Amino acid sequence: MKGIVLAGGTGSRLFPLTKITNKHLLPIYDKPMIYYPIQTLVDAGIQDLLIVTGGRNSGDFLRLLANGKGFGLKHINYTYQEGEGGIADALALAEHFADGDKICVILGDNIIQGSIAKAVSDFEKQGPGAKILLKQVHDAERFGVAEIVGDRIVGIEEKPKKPKSDYAVTGIYMYDETVFSKTRTLVPSSRGELEITDVNNAYIREGTMTFNYLDGWWTDAGTFESLLRAANLVHDTAQKGEPVLAAHGEDGE
Ligand code: G1P
Repeated sequence: MKGIVLAGGTGSRLFPLTKITNKHLLPIYDKPMIYYPIQTLVDAGIQDLLIVTGGRNSGDFLRLLANGKGFGLKHINYTYQEGEGGIADALALAEHFADGDKICVILGDNIIQGSIAKAVSDFEKQGPGAKILLKQVHDAERFGVAEIVGDRIVGIEEKPKKPKSDYAVTGIYMYDETVFSKTRTLVPSSRGELEITDVNNAYIREGTMTFNYLDGWWTDAGTFESLLRAANLVHDTAQKGEPVLAAHGEDGE
């Protein structure tokens, strides 16, 4: 399976922190934000990575990450998202890289405590379709929210005013090669973006979407509150002597 880290966007909810740099280069305690999703993929055994960046600071990713030696990688692939088309638009840039393989996509501001290795291995064995990871939260209206009936997921609503469950759809998605034809059928949402939730609902309608529950804590880091929360979670975990980014060396040189 190949891995894709989505690290574009303007980070407008974090302005002025993001006025002169990319959100995913901001610190989460003692590491740049993007280190965490990269390590999540590497820890799950995914070695072939594509970073999708954009904006004026894309060159900084190359300087920071180089060829991925700090993560034990020999090479990292990069591509550039023009404009502000949203997550599904960024994903469309990965078609050439995926080249027919299954992919694991992670949003560059999603930080988790645990491992996705089991979900990745389950998805390797799954036939066609997709897999998402769900996490119980107290503020479901901030996220894509899963509607679950029995052991089936029957729909996802993006940032609903009245969530049908308290299970957020985390920003970790596994797809087969049909994801790219699905993204081509999307139309922009009311916030003017191609929504990853619409891609996921296409798989649900097709009956090929599976899900796992994510162990350990999970947070995004795209707002002031969640950026602070992410730093505190990483800090508190490290203070307890539990590993956070254990495999990473001193820097990305
Ligand atoms: C995005 C997705 C949402 C998902 C969230 C996870 O939201 O649209 O479905 O729950 O990431 O971090 P955004 O961060 O673009 O508001």
